[in-house]
Amino acid sequence: MAFTLPSLPYAIDALKPHLSQETLEFHHGKHHAAYVNRLNELIAGTKWADAKLEAIIGGAGPGALFNQAAQHFNHSFYWNSMAPRAGGEPKGPAAEAIRKAFNDFASFKQKFTEAAVGHFGSGWAWLVRRADGSLAVESTHDADTPIAHGTKPLLTCDVWEHAYYIDYRNARAKYVEAFWNLVNWDFVNANLK
Ligand SMILES: [Fe+2]
Repeated sequence: MAFTLPSLPYAIDALKPHLSQETLEFHHGKHHAAYVNRLNELIAGTKWADAKLEAIIGGAGPGALFNQAAQHFNHSFYWNSMAPRAGGEPKGPAAEAIRKAFNDFASFKQKFTEAAVGHFGSGWAWLVRRADGSLAVESTHDADTPIAHGTKPLLTCDVWEHAYYIDYRNARAKYVEAFWNLVNWDFVNANLK
């Protein structure tokens, strides 16, 4: 059973002015779509042909198959990490959990921003819940993903250049600043359940 590119959970222009329609057209419609297409090519006729995405990520080992599968997972997670008319400070369980782990929202925001802006090269910044239940900020390189390491992702920001180059050119910090206006805390709260 082939994987399919999930529809964006909002209109293609809904994240303006923080992310343009053109960025989403390329990032979702070209980059994410290419990961899905390549993943389907790689699994066709193999033991992975009917496997769940998480099983492929957990079992593929380093290489092209892991990269395509993990990028499909990461991007699907990223689209849900953002929403129009979102951002600001968290409410509900996320607010509570972040206060417990980082003392206050500002400290969490600073730590996540540093992970996103400071990550060298392509990758992802994450808020995760570790196996012991504690919350942490992490970054992963290239396609790597928390679910390959036994941690549960709660929120992510894609810091590959293709995520921001159309709108912000080389200014990753400006993109990450804009990301805070899009954070979908409802998604984080759902992931905490
Ligand atoms: Fe991306």
